[in-house]
Amino acid sequence: MRTIKFGIIGIGLMGREFASAAMRWPHLADMDVKPEIIAICGSPMTPEEAAWYRDGLGTITQVTEDYKELLANPEVEAVYCAVPHFLHERFYIDIIEAGKHFLGEKPFGIDLAANAAINEAIKQNPDVFVRCSSEFPFAPAMQRLCDMIEADEFGRIIEVEAGFLHSSDMDVNKNINWKRIIKANGEYGCMGDLGIHICHVPFRAGWMPKSVRAVLSNLVPERPDGKGGMAVCETWDNAVLLCESEDAGGNSFPLTLKTQRMAPGEKNTWYLTIKGMKGSAKFTTKNINSLEFMRYNGGEQAWCREDMGHETTFKSITGGIFETGFSDTILQMWAAFMYELVHGKPKKKFAGCVTPEEARGSHALFTAALNSYKKGSVEKVTV
Ligand SMILES: NC(=O)c1ccc[n+]([C@@H]2O[C@H](COP(=O)([O-])OP(=O)(O)OC[C@H]3O[C@@H](n4cnc5c(N)ncnc54)[C@H](O)[C@@H]3O)[C@@H](O)[C@H]2O)c1
Repeated sequence: MRTIKFGIIGIGLMGREFASAAMRWPHLADMDVKPEIIAICGSPMTPEEAAWYRDGLGTITQVTEDYKELLANPEVEAVYCAVPHFLHERFYIDIIEAGKHFLGEKPFGIDLAANAAINEAIKQNPDVFVRCSSEFPFAPAMQRLCDMIEADEFGRIIEVEAGFLHSSDMDVNKNINWKRIIKANGEYGCMGDLGIHICHVPFRAGWMPKSVRAVLSNLVPERPDGKGGMAVCETWDNAVLLCESEDAGGNSFPLTLKTQRMAPGEKNTWYLTIKGMKGSAKFTTKNINSLEFMRYNGGEQAWCREDMGHETTFKSITGGIFETGFSDTILQMWAAFMYELVHGKPKKKFAGCVTPEEARGSHALFTAALNSYKKGSVEKVTV
C-alpha cells in the first residue's frame, strides 16, 4: 500500500468532504494507494474547524492560515485545493510550481485568462499530476451508462442533454455569499459553478461543442447582505446552452447543457440523457441507483430500468445490493484520482477525473456562451 501525504487548502464544504473520504478509505477493498492528510490551511480558520480535522483524522502535523507555508512543507506530496474562484489562478499556479500533485476544484480558474495561466504552469511542470474535481460520473449506474458510450451502444447520436439543477436559490431571502458576486465567483455565474460537472462525460465522449447559442438569466438581482441591507446579486442564476456537437462518425447533433440555480423542485439534480439510432439511456441523481435504457436498432422501443447498488468501479466493502449516495461518489472520485496518480492512466476511460484539457474546453465554451448571450448570436467554440 503506497501512502501519499496530502495537504488541504480550503477547509470549507469541500475540504471536509475530502477529509471524510480519507477517513473512510478502508471502505475501498482493492486500492494499492491511500491518502494521508497531514496539513490543512484555511483563512480565516476557527479553532473548531481545525479541531474537526485534527480529531477526525489524527494525522495532522501542520495547521496554517498561510498556504505558502503548507506548500513549503517537504512532507506534503499532493494537495487538494477548494477555495473561492478568484483565488484559483494564484493558488493553483503556486501549488503546481511547488511540485505538488494536485486535485483542484472547478471552474479551474475564474475565467479563460486565469485558466490559460494555470495551463501554462502545468505545461512547464510536466511531472506534476493535475486533475479537476467532478464526482457525479462515479455513481455506479452512471458508470454503466459510460460503458454503453464506450461500447458504441447508441449508434449515430440523435441528441444529448446534460444538466445540473438546484433550487437552493429559490428562497429570495437567502443571504448573498461569494458564489453570487462576480469578483469572487466570476462572470460565468452558474456556468462556472456548475458547468464542469455536466461537461465531464460529454467531453470525455469526444462531443466537444463546435458552436453555442446561450440564454442566460439573472432572476434575483439583489439579496440580503446579512447585515440588515441589500446587496447586488450580479451573477447569472440560470444558463441554457444549445450547442452543436459531432459524434464519432462526424455527424452533427444538438447538445443541450443546462446549469440552473433557480430550478423549482430540484435539490441537486445532475443528469445526462443520450438518444441514439441504436439505443438510448438516461441517468439522473434523483434516482441515483437506477439506469434507464433502450436497445432497439430498428425494432421496438421500450424503456428498461435497472436498479444498481454498490457495484462501484473501485470495489467497496459495502454489500453490492446496498444503495449509493453523494458521499460514495466523492470517495469513488478520490479513488480515481489516486489510481491515476500512481498507475499513470485511469482504470477505465470514464473513470478519470476531469483533465486540464477538458477544463480548458469548458472555459472556451462558457466564454463563447457569454459572448453569445451578449450579442444574441451563435458563437464558434474554439479550444
Ligand atoms: N465538487 C463539488 O461538487 C463542489 C461543490 C461545492 C463547491 N465546489 C468548489 O469548491 C471550491 C470551494 O467551495 P466551497 O463550497 O468548499 O467553499 P467554502 O466557502 O465552503 O470554503 C472555502 C474555503 O476557502 C478557504 N479560504 C478562503 N480564502 C483563503 C485563503 N486566502 N487562504 C486559504 N484558504 C482560504 C476558507 O478557509 C474556506 O474554508 C470552489 O471552487 C467551488 O466551486 C465544488
